[in-house]
Parts: sequence; structure tokens; C-alpha cells
Amino acid sequence: MVKKNACVFISGEGSNLKNLLKRSRDYNFPISIKLVVSNNPKARGVNFAKKHSIPCIIVNTRFRFFESIILNNLNKYKINIICLAGYMKIISKNFLRSFKKQVVNIHPSLLPKFKGLNTYKRILKTKEIKTGCTVHFVNEKLDGGRIIAQKSFYIMLNSNLSDLKKRTQNLEYSAYPEALIKIFRASY
Ligand code: GAR
Repeated sequence: MVKKNACVFISGEGSNLKNLLKRSRDYNFPISIKLVVSNNPKARGVNFAKKHSIPCIIVNTRFRFFESIILNNLNKYKINIICLAGYMKIISKNFLRSFKKQVVNIHPSLLPKFKGLNTYKRILKTKEIKTGCTVHFVNEKLDGGRIIAQKSFYIMLNSNLSDLKKRTQNLEYSAYPEALIKIFRASY
């Protein structure tokens, strides 16, 4: 099958990047990761990309033209889809208008609940019964685009931040690949 060229945006650990790369090695998985973008030079995901010889660009988001640099590289590597995976910067309206292809994101809550930052902390504070993760298209509203896939679990009474994160991320590792399959196989 002809795979779509994907670029993964990261800021930290890169465990979703790792998982997507592993999945993309299946001959019938719809994407191939051609480029990684990080706004953080110290992100562990950067080392991981280097180790696997995936071109990786590190951008300084304080530099006025950083989005143009990204866009040039997206063109250069003929990227068809951007997968945000723990990229902790907001994608600007201009960027979305310039990159006319799909941009998807994974968020550690059952959207539309708990958009934005400090998700786990807020989930615990409000004593939610259920939580999970959401893969959605990115639009101009923060965590507001159309939902592609969601997975959920019941929160245990004595749950803390670290086990909430662990359980959520375990679900992310199946939700993100499934969402990508859904995008390219179903009539979206
Ligand atoms: C993921 O759990 C993702 O849901 C979250 O960052 C983590 C990145 O982990 N994203 C957000 O909170 C976006 N608002 P990773 O770097 O190990 O893939």
C-alpha cells in the first residue's frame, strides 16, 4: 500500500512517537513517519528520532518565523499529515491555513471535558468517575476539533496522578494508531 507521509510533533518523552513508529512498520499501517518536529531540544523523543534516523528539526518558538521553517520542511518531506503527540504549543491559525492537510492531536481526557493543560490534576480534583483519551482533528479552537477516536476507563477510588497518567497513556497507544487507520480507511 502507498503510505501517507507523516510528521510527528513532540515536546517531551515521545512515547506516542515511539509507539507510532513501531506500528508504522506494519506493511498495512497507513502512515510512514518521515519527519519529527520538536520545540524542545532536550525532549527524549529527539534522541529517539535520531537513533532511528528520522530527520528531526528543533524549533525555537520564540523566533518569529519558526512556523515558516516548519512549513518549509513539511513541503520538503512531502508531508500529508501532522500527528501532534505531546506537543505543548498551540498551532496558530496561520499555520493551519497554510498547511492545508490534516492535523491530528491526542489529548489525555474525554474531550470535550478537560481541554487544555494540567489535565490529570483537574480530573482528580473534580472526582470524575471515568476518564480516557481522545484523538481529534485540530482546528482553530483549543482541543476543539472533530473527534476521531476515544477510549475510556473507570477511575479507581484511590487513584493518583501517576497511575492516572499510566492508564491513560496505555490507552493512547491503541487509540492513536486506530484513529489513523480510521482516517485513511473510512470515508472521512
Ligand atoms: C500524551 O499523554 C498526550 O496525551 C499529552 O502529552 C502526552 C505526551 O506523552 N498531550 C497533551 O496533554 C496535549 N494537550 P509522550 O511524549 O510520551 O507521547
